[in-house]
Amino acid sequence: MTTKDILETEAAHILQTYKRAPIVLSRGKGVHLFDDAGQEYTDLLSGIGVASLGHAHPGLAAAIADQAATLVHTSNLYFHPLQGQLAARLAELSGLPRAFFCNSGSEAVEACLKFARRYWHTKGDTARTEIVALEQSFHGRTLGALSTTWQPSYRTPFQPLVPGVTFVAAEADALTTAISATTQAVIVEPLQGEGGIRPLPPEVARALQQACDDTGALLIADEVQCGLGRTGRPFYFQALDLRPDLISVGKALGAGFPVGAALVGDRVAAAVAYGDHGSTYGGNLLACRAALVFLEELMDHGLLNHVRTVGAIAQERLRALADRHPAITDVRGAGVMWGIEVDAEAAEGSDAAAVAAAALDRRLLVNRTAGNVVRLLPPLTITADEFNAALDTLDASFDAVLGGAS
Ligand SMILES: Cc1ncc(COP(=O)(O)O)c(C=O)c1O
Repeated sequence: MTTKDILETEAAHILQTYKRAPIVLSRGKGVHLFDDAGQEYTDLLSGIGVASLGHAHPGLAAAIADQAATLVHTSNLYFHPLQGQLAARLAELSGLPRAFFCNSGSEAVEACLKFARRYWHTKGDTARTEIVALEQSFHGRTLGALSTTWQPSYRTPFQPLVPGVTFVAAEADALTTAISATTQAVIVEPLQGEGGIRPLPPEVARALQQACDDTGALLIADEVQCGLGRTGRPFYFQALDLRPDLISVGKALGAGFPVGAALVGDRVAAAVAYGDHGSTYGGNLLACRAALVFLEELMDHGLLNHVRTVGAIAQERLRALADRHPAITDVRGAGVMWGIEVDAEAAEGSDAAAVAAAALDRRLLVNRTAGNVVRLLPPLTITADEFNAALDTLDASFDAVLGGAS
């Protein structure tokens, strides 16, 4: 099929929920992608934080092929050898002893919300139904997850949503006031992704934890985007000394294979019973095998340290980029998760979307989020040289859009 045929077939038959860039990607290797004409792109987005080991990782490819030739799926009606292993590894990393496996970040969030509700139901406190979420939050598009997602344009067409959710600014006083004895759970991304790469400030995290401790409200850390090594730590809640009762993970975990999980602490786990929740596909052999390969790379083969080293270099480069371009108002992030905020007042055509388009013209994949933030989420395996070369291209893209730098 020609590129034109592919675009036309999609236009006729794919539901129009996505606005895609007009390129057809058909092959990858490491941090590079290739279109159907064989042109090479540098991928600083990794399929929105998913291709954590880069593209066509040989160890992952071999493990998936081997598992596919052995056994792919059996359902959760029987045991298989890999799910417990994967749960044990995640428990080691998170400190939360139990896992429920699913297939995406939204499902992981749904599971956390359900288990939080179940906890208070088991305790007989059925009046405790309120959920506190943060402004600028993104927790997914399924109805429960969407109910805790802040962006009004995502929510409004789908009302009524799950009731009882209050959105609060990420400020210590606001959180302390909002979290009360009627709060079932508070859900936060320790480092917000879609909302513009915004780390929770340490003093806000302290107030949040204190309010949860004082009121007994459960704390859900949504680590779907920022977790599992992306910031140079297993989880970003660890940088903030938070003590979540539930953690949602997804994206990087399967390194491209769809897998998510709700990680569950002791007090909530004790309240959950047989039959409370389930998933046909969740935690099948193929998904677990892929996730085990990823965690081996991350924890046993030095990938976590690699992210820290490359992250420190990227941070310096990005700060220098911001110094050169007055229209860049902030650079935020950690490890290999960065947001470059462009002046919100910038004239149309010289904003973050224009920078992302200029980067695409130079065959560099980044994206725009939260209106005016250029987002970078490269594979965790990106080398310092690759990152530096990509940032040269990004610098040229900023020059092209915002005019020559100082
Ligand atoms: C923090 C966070 N939670 C949940 C989700 C939803 O994950 P998924 O798209 O895999 O359902 C996302 C997706 O971007 C996310 O960033």
